[in-house]
Amino acid sequence: MAHETLEEMKVTPWEVSGDVDYGRLMEQFGVEPLTRNLEEKIAQHAGFMHMQLRRGVYISHRDLDWWLKEYEKGNKVGLYTGRGPSGNVHLGHLLPWFFCKYLQDAFDADLYFQMTDDEKFLFNDNLELEQTIALTYENALDVIACGLDPEKTHIFSDTDNIGSLYRIALKVAKKVTYSTAKAVFGFQDSDNIGMIWYPAMQAMTCFLQSVREEENIPCLIPAAIDQDPYWRMTRDIAEKMGYYKPSQIHAKFLPGLAKGGKMSASQPETAIFTTDPPGEAAKKVMSAYTGGRDTVKEQREKGGQPEICNVYAYYYFLFEEDDEALMERERVCKSGELLCGMCKKDLANRVKIFLNNFQERREKAREVLEDFLLK
Ligand code: TYM
Repeated sequence: MAHETLEEMKVTPWEVSGDVDYGRLMEQFGVEPLTRNLEEKIAQHAGFMHMQLRRGVYISHRDLDWWLKEYEKGNKVGLYTGRGPSGNVHLGHLLPWFFCKYLQDAFDADLYFQMTDDEKFLFNDNLELEQTIALTYENALDVIACGLDPEKTHIFSDTDNIGSLYRIALKVAKKVTYSTAKAVFGFQDSDNIGMIWYPAMQAMTCFLQSVREEENIPCLIPAAIDQDPYWRMTRDIAEKMGYYKPSQIHAKFLPGLAKGGKMSASQPETAIFTTDPPGEAAKKVMSAYTGGRDTVKEQREKGGQPEICNVYAYYYFLFEEDDEALMERERVCKSGELLCGMCKKDLANRVKIFLNNFQERREKAREVLEDFLLK
């Protein structure tokens, strides 16, 4: 049976490995599939359907329909997402942030952006706190380069801003038992006690805007599906704290350049970082996994397999906006007219152009960083 050859999937907020079966994951996590109707509703408010929605990058949600209805009633709504600063930012991280920009514009929403320097220190034996703190501000440049609105974006660091966050986190922590935390996150006796506290920090931000504005504001969290366990825990206690349950919209993972798995900073040769010299990134693309045939002759006869090809996935997720051009690429790949080498070369050029532009915006972000920080 085909599935016997698949590598067992593991999806936690700290590790994603194996072949991710999204259907099974959605069932395990107990989330709702994202419907065309909901995608269209978002598009209606935005004035266009974002490529990530058209292409099914977002697969599931919790209470997105309710969040939209609140907005439609004329109520204020908010957005929340974040980054664990453990290294440089890669293209996978950018997916939800580009999408936040789209939602921020569409719903005129404030975005609370949490930088979890504490999380990455606690969960990673090889990182010192000074390193995650320094990375926080380097990674914030990437967030800003996604084009967010300085008036409506509030980036904060857990360690630097703890004064205004601690009270909310304490109230969360008191409502969650150790047995719930163990069941949700799989904590072991050998884990340090900081790890057990940390989920209160990630949950806390769901209520931050409501606390600051002294009004209950529905919060939507765009992120990849790996972060869902945090929200399961938070949703259990939100109403007990007097707040709405946070809503979520979950993305699939952008794959790495090697066969299988998500793009991950722990395999730097298979990830494209926003700080990679464009020429280096192009070289990584040229050695990407395509699922191509062994010989040119065979490729011409049998055609390529876009459904398992990571190069195609990059066009699909990020680098080909035009739906017709994407379909044409798929057609010529399958027919054997387009060989993998050409297809990679074209992608490598697009990646170079993208990185040149992004890096320019990222450098400019240094000058305006202050404007984006939580006040
Ligand atoms: P982190 O830094 O691991 O990831 C940042 C964001 O990127 C998403 N992501 C991906 N999306 C698509 N394809 C990939 N290959 C990929 N890899 C990562 C993650 O889902 C995340 O949205 N604990 C968090 C920090 C955090 C947070 C949040 C994230 C704090 N509050 C609220 C999301 C929402 C973390 O370490 O993310």
